[in-house]
Amino acid sequence: PRVLVLNGPNLARLGVREPEIYGHADLDDLNAAVSRWGSELGLAVEARQTDDESQLVGWLHEAVDTRSHVVLNPAAFTHYSYALRDAAAQVPTSGLLLVEVHLSNPHTRESFRHYSVVSGIATGTVAGFGFDSYRLALTAVAARLHP
Ligand code: DQA
Repeated sequence: PRVLVLNGPNLARLGVREPEIYGHADLDDLNAAVSRWGSELGLAVEARQTDDESQLVGWLHEAVDTRSHVVLNPAAFTHYSYALRDAAAQVPTSGLLLVEVHLSNPHTRESFRHYSVVSGIATGTVAGFGFDSYRLALTAVAARLHP
């Protein structure tokens, strides 16, 4: 099974960006961990990052067209992008899994982070466990696919 791990805006700044919230490891470290977890779980994982909303929308269309499950960290788009939500909504309605992930727990942070436009259409959400949020998301995908 194919899984696209999609990371939204500012996540290429991991390691530099607000390390007290997001930690000291960088996006390469995250991608390496994600690819290791993917092979352990028998998933063909491909990880990508963009700061661009239209790119992310296009990747979600691609996921549907190539029958790929999606682990999505929409970053700040989480809180306001209806275009992203509408693109992401096509994943679960096509019979594919969509797991929303966050490194931090947005509910413990500023009030504008408390609402996610993605949660209502996601298969499930994992938040607050740092890089392990991705491991838990991939584990959930594998468990759903091979119960
Ligand atoms: C985030 C949480 C969002 O509120 C924030 O805009 C991010 C990262 C996280 O992974 O914790 O960029 O999605």
